[in-house]
Amino acid sequence: MANVAVIGAQWGDEGKGKVVDWLASRADIVVRFQGGHNAGHTLVVGNETYRLSLLPSGVVRGKLGVIGNGVVLDPQALLSEIEKVAAQGLKVTPENLRIAENVPLILPLHPALDRARETARGEDKIGTTGRGIGPAYEDKVGRRSIRLCDLAEPETLSAKLDELLLHHNSLLRGLGAPEFSKKELLDGLLALAPKLLPYAEPVWERLDEARHSGKRVLFEGAQAVMLDVDHGTYPYVTSSNTVAGNAAGGAGIGPDAIGFVLGIAKAYTTRVGSGPFPSELHDETGKLLGERGREFGTVTGRPRRCGWFDACMVRQAVKVGGIQGLVLTKLDVLDGLPELKICTGYRINGETVKRLPAAFRAQAAAEPIYETLQGWSGSTRGARSYAELPAEAVKYVRRIEELVEAPIVLLSTSPERDDTIMMRDPFAG
Ligand code: GDP
Ligand code: IMO
Ligand code: MG
Repeated sequence: MANVAVIGAQWGDEGKGKVVDWLASRADIVVRFQGGHNAGHTLVVGNETYRLSLLPSGVVRGKLGVIGNGVVLDPQALLSEIEKVAAQGLKVTPENLRIAENVPLILPLHPALDRARETARGEDKIGTTGRGIGPAYEDKVGRRSIRLCDLAEPETLSAKLDELLLHHNSLLRGLGAPEFSKKELLDGLLALAPKLLPYAEPVWERLDEARHSGKRVLFEGAQAVMLDVDHGTYPYVTSSNTVAGNAAGGAGIGPDAIGFVLGIAKAYTTRVGSGPFPSELHDETGKLLGERGREFGTVTGRPRRCGWFDACMVRQAVKVGGIQGLVLTKLDVLDGLPELKICTGYRINGETVKRLPAAFRAQAAAEPIYETLQGWSGSTRGARSYAELPAEAVKYVRRIEELVEAPIVLLSTSPERDDTIMMRDPFAG
């Protein structure tokens, strides 16, 4: 039986949370494999809206949630989120949430360094979420991380903190930011240990067992291909690999277990934070998309930059991300627009190109080449079958499908869980 991996195909906030929640009804386990609480996934279920950052979206459906080793985990953020959803009637316990014992932790010094760096960059800032994601991943590859399992070994913790503080306090001092004391960090971690350790386990064993007993696993990506640390608009990216291939390494399972790779794309484009965005609109249409689509960051509340659908970029995301089928979300936001544009390529320094180049200046110089399509006057909002869509909306979807070179397997027509049109079951492989 096929598993499914869900990844973002643009710059994040495509509606991954809604799609994972919808698919989770047919999965047994939902696994987060990268990112951290920089993610903000919104699930609308009747009158209740859940905003999740760390918890795998499947927990809302009562499924087992797994936080894999590829995530960077802020213990305090996790406990706060568990409390927040408890107030909405959702009980998260070690019964329905398991965390990889080897997951690296985000400590208070990580957001401090993240913010100090952003301040130092001034105008050139990345526009990070300020959650310490980048510094935490640096410590992981620098072999300095405190990992969840270390909370069970106070001596290891103490020695590792010495090494970590030598590194971080030197940096913080250089950036003119306050330094951290070992005692405060150690006391904080030791106090968190009994709350967190009951969730810890070698999740690779559980996933291996799930695989052999034919259970369905849904891998929930955060961020998106254009924010991938290798394939995105570097350096305006996040600090992890967001492509589907990382679901294997970030969960501790073989690449053949990833299953069908589902990419999520909005019917237009948005981006939060700085960096190139060729099809960005600075006019009334851009404003309208932002208002209609309620385009404000789930994590930071920042307004999202809006623009036309960039088929050239999504095609690239399909190729490098390993996307086998696409979900197009927020089609309803385009209702009533007289005409729609799709970016099909770029003009860069007088040349026509069909991909976003890697070099920063070339990226920033990319001018979109548009194709114009007729809009539709009817409504797609809440549509649950293809037959309910206006003919021009169908044409728009079909044209995108051709340009991005991937089949569109699902359409989303409102934030609500069941306002979804399925053309092909991703779990069928
Ligand atoms: P994620 O980070 O990819 O999970 O996406 P976010 O949850 O950050 O942002 C997507 C936003 O769009 C959320 O507020 C969703 O409730 C909303 N949304 C998802 N699908 C649709 C849709 O088809 N139509 C509309 N109007 N809103 C949607
Ligand atoms: P979801 O999972 C949109 C962006 C930040 C910034 C860059 C680096 O909800 O789609 P970071 O804090 O990760 O070091 O910031 O990445 N970013 C996101 N943008 N959606 C997200 O997650 C994002 N997570 C990070 O705005 O530009
Ligand atoms: Mg989001």
